[in-house]
Amino acid sequence: MPNSAPLLPASLTIDNITSNVHAINSTCTSPRLKFLLERLVTHLHDFTRETRLSTSEWTSAIQFLTAVGQICSPVRQEFILLSDILGLSLLVDSIDHPKPAASTEGTVLGPFHTHDAPTYAANGATISHDEDGEPMLVACTVRDTRGNPIPGVKVDVWETDSKGFYDVQHADRAGPDGRAVVASDEHGEFHFKAIVPVPYPIPNDGPVGQLLEKLGRHPYRPSHFHFMFEKAGFDPLITALYVRGSPYERSDAVFGVKESLIVDLGLWGCGGVERYGVGRETKLMKYDFVLVGRRRSGVEASEGGGGAGGHEGEGEAEGIMVVDGMLVPDVD
Ligand SMILES: [Fe+2]
Repeated sequence: MPNSAPLLPASLTIDNITSNVHAINSTCTSPRLKFLLERLVTHLHDFTRETRLSTSEWTSAIQFLTAVGQICSPVRQEFILLSDILGLSLLVDSIDHPKPAASTEGTVLGPFHTHDAPTYAANGATISHDEDGEPMLVACTVRDTRGNPIPGVKVDVWETDSKGFYDVQHADRAGPDGRAVVASDEHGEFHFKAIVPVPYPIPNDGPVGQLLEKLGRHPYRPSHFHFMFEKAGFDPLITALYVRGSPYERSDAVFGVKESLIVDLGLWGCGGVERYGVGRETKLMKYDFVLVGRRRSGVEASEGGGGAGGHEGEGEAEGIMVVDGMLVPDVD
């Protein structure tokens, strides 16, 4: 036991348990971990006192969390689902990745991203092979907040099949489908062939689904397509595009919809068919994504190197800062 560890009083009570847990944790050498645990214990204890939590309720909660963990597998993440349906995922992303007005908003990652998507599929690649799906071309640009195209951005994309299932939800999954990793070209553009997204229920055959049922909530998400952007010198962006008018647009089970991310599936203008080699029956999903440069000394990384040549290796603002007396990640 470290010499600095405080001694507990002879008796712990409803009134002194919180301060004594803080005291026993006070030897933690990580300021951020110490702060997080202190606030977590404070809120947990206050919640327990406020609700007069019973032993049977606490036991039920433990059993619920145990079930959430037990159903997790390499291709099923029930804890992310739980975080999503509580609105926590959206809140964390909004706090940790604040976006200036001119940039693209983030939204929930969801539990279906994998790391086995075909890497750096060529522009124009077909990423969904579901023959029942309605053809859709995704044609987008990636720019910085000054409007400069950003080449070489790693773009992870994924969607369900036409029945509303991700590939990982099929027991006989032979390999990835409906997902890929693409890269923006020298003009900051990327495009690929996919299918029109459809609404789908989040997995509701586990403890999170049972919770939704008890809450009287439906498990559906509106039609959407996932994107994840990554390039050194820029704040990572996890987001999705939502098809306007989709059912559940205003009652998304995981609170992911944002007005700026709702798109109309466009009609083809002159030259589109010839340029991308798809039929006129193909729907078009277009969007201009804007990434935020990581800040260094209060200056956006993309402003430091002068135009498109200044994107690489600008470093990251890591560490901890104090806001209103609270220790928070120094993300901006
Ligand atoms: Fe999704």
